[in-house]
Amino acid sequence: MSIAQPMRTPADFPVADARCTVRSNRAVNGRYRHLVLEAPPPLCRAAPGQFFHLLCPPASGDDPFLRRPMSVYRIAPAKQAIEFLYNVVGAGTRSLARLAAGDAMSVMGPLGVGFTIGPTYRHILMVARGVGLATMAPVVPWARRRGIRVSAALSARSRADLMEREFTQGEDVRVYPVFDQDGSSDVEQVESLLRAILAEDRPDAMFTCGSNRLMTLLQKLGLEYGVPGEIALEQQMACALGVCLCCVRPIRIGGAIVHKRVCCEGPVFDLQQVAGTWRHG
Ligand SMILES: Cc1cc2nc3c(=O)[nH]c(=O)nc-3n(C[C@H](O)[C@H](O)[C@H](O)COP(=O)(O)OP(=O)(O)OC[C@H]3O[C@@H](n4cnc5c(N)ncnc54)[C@H](O)[C@@H]3O)c2cc1C
Ligand code: FES
Repeated sequence: MSIAQPMRTPADFPVADARCTVRSNRAVNGRYRHLVLEAPPPLCRAAPGQFFHLLCPPASGDDPFLRRPMSVYRIAPAKQAIEFLYNVVGAGTRSLARLAAGDAMSVMGPLGVGFTIGPTYRHILMVARGVGLATMAPVVPWARRRGIRVSAALSARSRADLMEREFTQGEDVRVYPVFDQDGSSDVEQVESLLRAILAEDRPDAMFTCGSNRLMTLLQKLGLEYGVPGEIALEQQMACALGVCLCCVRPIRIGGAIVHKRVCCEGPVFDLQQVAGTWRHG
């Protein structure tokens, strides 16, 4: 069930650390913001699922000491730009939200191992919740450029929180939105939806990010339908370079549980290998 051919290997894009200038930092909706940075060429390379470690500048009493990990949402090497979609949840992201055009910040990356797309894939199913949409969004243009059909079940609290346009980026994607507001994001309802997709147009692989219960559901369906998958994990990080071990997660390999560092052996893992649930703090 494991898939070969990652979109990148760690050696493809060496890690760089540089000061970047904010081009824009605007609200997408009531919860999420879109940050565009002008970045030097070594930073303008990353594969879908990789992330950068951002040094959030102190602001108005918030003094985030450690860097904060953020998935790359979009990279535009020709415009020397890297982009992020983020949710404001604490000191680090609050200070990010206060950045204005022209401000500077230190950015390190690209880091981690991204998603894998098999050479024979013709159809992929993406299942994302909340800000997991930001992590998975770069897969969409990557897959569409290769003629791969994309179906996506996108889960959010409400329609106002759903970043459908940011996710699809103008690409042809079959979107199935589900919401907490009307109960359509309940796990039983999502299971019925995914079973219908799997029965009607079976994907070659499934990808997910942003929800523990969706991970568990996809693990079950993946085994039942024999469809491989990958998950991007979110774990609190300190160094993001594989040194401090604060980001380890239990991973099942060959019947044994081993601990893998999400920052450098992930954040993307084989769906069936992930054991246990999120660890927040
Ligand atoms: C590889 C990776 C990619 C990520 N990509 C994105 C992204 O594209 N957009 C986005 O909005 N967020 C993303 N995150 C989550 C983001 O890093 C955290 O929300 C951020 O570090 C919170 O910092 P803070 O100081 O604002 O909040 P804190 O005060 O540090 O924490 C606020 C709350 O968020 C929880 N939290 C903090 N960090 C994490 C984390 N890493 N994982 C899960 N829960 C956490 C804390 O337990 C606490 O409950 C990503 C995380 C990882 C590991
Ligand atoms: S964050 Fe330090 S080892 Fe992963």
